[in-house]
Amino acid sequence: MAFRLKKKTRKETKQKPRKLALDFSFQNIGGYDTVKEEIRDAIVMPMRHPSLYKRLKIRAPKGILLWGAPGIGKTLFARTIADECKATFYHIRSSDIMSEWFGVSERRVKQLFYKATKTRPSIIFFDELESLAPNRQAITIEDARTSLLSSLLSEMDGFVPLSQVTILGSTNIPNRLDPALLRPGRFDKMIYIPPPNKAERKEILKIHINGKPIDQINIEQLAQKTNLFTGADLELLVNTATTNWVKKFVKNKKEPLSMEYFESALKMVRPSLKPEDLRYYEYLRNHFERSSNPNIRDDLSPTYYG
Ligand SMILES: Nc1ncnc2c1ncn2[C@@H]1O[C@H](COP(=O)(O)OP(=O)(O)OP(=O)(O)O)[C@@H](O)[C@H]1O
Ligand SMILES: [Mg+2]
Repeated sequence: MAFRLKKKTRKETKQKPRKLALDFSFQNIGGYDTVKEEIRDAIVMPMRHPSLYKRLKIRAPKGILLWGAPGIGKTLFARTIADECKATFYHIRSSDIMSEWFGVSERRVKQLFYKATKTRPSIIFFDELESLAPNRQAITIEDARTSLLSSLLSEMDGFVPLSQVTILGSTNIPNRLDPALLRPGRFDKMIYIPPPNKAERKEILKIHINGKPIDQINIEQLAQKTNLFTGADLELLVNTATTNWVKKFVKNKKEPLSMEYFESALKMVRPSLKPEDLRYYEYLRNHFERSSNPNIRDDLSPTYYG
C-alpha cells in the first residue's frame, strides 16, 4: 500500500501533486558534491518544504555554520543557496552591525531579525562571524561585542525554526568563536568546506574557463599542477591567463587563449594554502566532528585568514 501522510481533502485531490524541489543544481559551484548534498538536506529542503518537515516532526538545524579556509567558496555557497531558494539575502558583516554608540548594535540585530521575518523566505548570512562574535574569554567585558553577542544569542533563542528564515554563518577559524554560539539551538550544524581535490579543481577551472576563447587547454594537467589552490586562487589563475592573452590580442596578435598563457600564469599565481594549513583544518575538522565541545586549543591558527 502506498504511504500517505494524511487523508487528502477533496480540494487537495484535485490539485496537481507538488513536486519536491530536489533540482538544486549549484551550477556556478564546481565540485563539492558531498557539501552540496549536505546543504540541500540541512537548508534547502527544510526551507522549501517547512510544512512537510513540521508534519513529519523532522528537526531542521536552526543555524548553519559554513567553515573552511579563505577563498574556499563559503560566501559563494551562501549566495547560491539564496538564489536557488529565491530568498531575500541579508549579507551581514560586522561593520554593518557594529556601532560605537550604546545600544545601537543590539537594536540593529533586533531589526535585522524582524526584517528577515517580514521578507521571508530569507537568509541571514553572518559573514566572518568570528569578528562579530569572538570568544568572550578573548575580549574584555567593555568590548561592545560582549553585549552584541548576548543580543544575537537571545534573537536566535527566540527564533522559531522552519519559519522560512535561515540563519547562516561563515568563518575561517571556528575555534575563535564564542562557544555559546555553537550550542544546540543556535549554530547547531557545521558544514566544513575542504580545499578542493584534483577532481574538484578540474570542475572549478571548467566553470571559470567557460565562455573564454580557449584552445587546446589541458584541464587535467592544470588541475594536477594546482595542488593547494583554493577556488579563489583558481579564479585568479584563469583571470591572469585571460588578462595576459587580452593584452596580446589587442596588439593584433590574433591567437586563441592557449595552454602557454596558463603556464605563465602558474608562475605568477601562488596557492594561498600551505601544507600546514591542511593539517590545521583536518585537526579542527576531527575535533568538531568527533565532539560537540567547541572549547579547544585556540593557540593553533592558519597561516593567514582572509
Ligand atoms: N567551488 C567553487 N566553484 C567556482 N568558483 C569558486 C569555488 N570556490 C571559490 N570560487 C571562486 O572564488 C571566489 C571567492 O570565494 P568566496 O568569497 O566564496 O570565498 P570565502 O570562503 O567566502 O572566502 P573568505 O573566507 O575569505 O571570505 C568566488 O567568488 C568564486 O569565484
Ligand atoms: Mg567570504
